[in-house]
Amino acid sequence: MIIIRMVIKSHKMFDIHSHIIPRIDDGARDEADALSLLRLAQQDGTTHIVATPHIHSGRFENDQNTIFAGLSTLKKIIKEHSLTINVAASCELRLDIVHMAKLMSGEIPTLGTVNGYKIVLLEFPHSHIPPGAENFVKWLFNNGYKPIIAHPERNRDLLKSPSLLNPYLRLGCLTQVTAGSITGEFGNTVKSYALSLLAQDKVDVIASDAHNISRRPPVLSKAYALVTKEFGVEKADTLFKITPQKLTQTLFDEG
Ligand SMILES: [Fe+2]
Repeated sequence: MIIIRMVIKSHKMFDIHSHIIPRIDDGARDEADALSLLRLAQQDGTTHIVATPHIHSGRFENDQNTIFAGLSTLKKIIKEHSLTINVAASCELRLDIVHMAKLMSGEIPTLGTVNGYKIVLLEFPHSHIPPGAENFVKWLFNNGYKPIIAHPERNRDLLKSPSLLNPYLRLGCLTQVTAGSITGEFGNTVKSYALSLLAQDKVDVIASDAHNISRRPPVLSKAYALVTKEFGVEKADTLFKITPQKLTQTLFDEG
């Protein structure tokens, strides 16, 4: 008997962290900018992109109204220019107790729901891990949120003392490493930390964290190639396709 082994390869590529909504944070400046970002993402092979504007008190005062209005703008751009990329919206939430009320009332747009937990992309300050961060993360879990920590490889405290990440992993946090960190756009120290996190299986998703075309573009293909070369295609597919698809399934189903 001849056994035909079919290898089902997903052509879907997910980018769950990007700043492509015009004018509401430090990402796209206007509609033309958003169009360039969407077009480049699509050309690079991304089939599903989540706009994750900053919600950062005192800096970017976004809420579900500004974010969902921005999502409509993106959908309009996609339609007008006959792009095929799928878009949805969530946020990148700054770690700050000021957001507790909105988290409790369900007003923070999340990446989706998995096993009863709402997945929230959580941003630590770049300089350090603030006192009380662990308690805040525990509070999130107790209130039905599972954080995915945005780019831990770029946090200065973690770069100095990588073991500081462990309590968060033990609590059940997920991690998102930025594609540009792996390809060296943020320097060699960040790159080697990112690669060591990958080697230790401490990374769940890789995403672009795109802000603009020139310095922080929505490009995943280079990092995908590098991860495939260093760790194999199975791991690359898990990080760029399978896990991000699982996390955002309810988000794209709704859209
Ligand atoms: Fe970001």
